[in-house]
Amino acid sequence: MDIQVTKVATPKPRPPEAELGFGRFFTDHLFVMDYTTEKGWHAPRIQPYGPLGIDPAAGVLHYGQAMFEGSKAFRGVDGALRLFRPQAHAQRMVSGAPRLCMPTPTAEQMVEACRALVRVEADWVPKAEGTALYLRPTLIATEAFLGVRPANAYTYFIIATPVGSYYGGSALKPVRIWVETVEVRAPRGGLGAAKAGANYAASLHAAVKAKKAGYDQVLWLDGQTHELVEEVGTMNLFVLLGDTLVTPPLSDSILAGVTRDSVITLAREKGLTVEERVLSVKELRAAHARGALREVFGTGTAAVISPVGELSFAGEPLVVNGGAPGPLGLELYATISGIQRGTVKDTHGWLVDA
Ligand code: COI
Repeated sequence: MDIQVTKVATPKPRPPEAELGFGRFFTDHLFVMDYTTEKGWHAPRIQPYGPLGIDPAAGVLHYGQAMFEGSKAFRGVDGALRLFRPQAHAQRMVSGAPRLCMPTPTAEQMVEACRALVRVEADWVPKAEGTALYLRPTLIATEAFLGVRPANAYTYFIIATPVGSYYGGSALKPVRIWVETVEVRAPRGGLGAAKAGANYAASLHAAVKAKKAGYDQVLWLDGQTHELVEEVGTMNLFVLLGDTLVTPPLSDSILAGVTRDSVITLAREKGLTVEERVLSVKELRAAHARGALREVFGTGTAAVISPVGELSFAGEPLVVNGGAPGPLGLELYATISGIQRGTVKDTHGWLVDA
């Protein structure tokens, strides 16, 4: 791609690394590329960060044709800038977009765009342990037309934000989870396997209810029986049952997490048995009753590993590992963040130079 670069005249001041939080500060530039059915993808460019000119009739604003990704770039302990599994993130957008009738750039073009933006924003990649430059590639329908059909024009853009820990405070502070038995994140046959903005819209109401009741996030159950666990908050779910690590199998209602895949790979290498299989609420409660529910954690790009200290079934709490982060979750967090920062050898080729 021939990416045109227009730099800002005056870069913004950098926020202190201790105050980054998650997604609060945006860098000086963004990457943008447009699509029309006549021209295909064209005009790749990096330009000063600012509002996108969007027609009020644009498809994304009415019928929600929108998808996004989230990946991270790191400053290694050697100072070099590297992206973690950018190809897997790009491929996930390529795989998810057909369900929303959206065209995407190729995975290679998306990786190239992410690397180019990280190079332009090199000064924005924070140094401190636990920090990263979070990239948010986004795909939206821009054609101005109110008939209900797939749009004929799209924009793909990438914004970047320097981030600290997703939940604020200690990255590994265990979360308290409300088991949601009525509302559903994604039904079978729906959009759950695509990183569609709509899935996050569907999740907000239950998340707000859980917060009001004093919980951090919700455990999502399947939309048919409301008995099978699917995801936790915005993350994939892992449960250490005895000596076996169990995670729900991928389906059209579960997002194929890149961290989920990394955890499965690393856990198997550590000699653990990992099962991708259905897991019911009944099984979780029975395992807790006999003392076999050793650890529960969520996995996602933003938080990496988020230990679950408590699961609440209609106010009846199951406390996991005494409410403390479990050793397996801590070890996997240390391994993944070590690979990302270059202190643990990357034997899988997960890091890509910016
Ligand atoms: C992630 O864990 O990376 C997510 O999907 C959360 C994001 C929506 C902030």
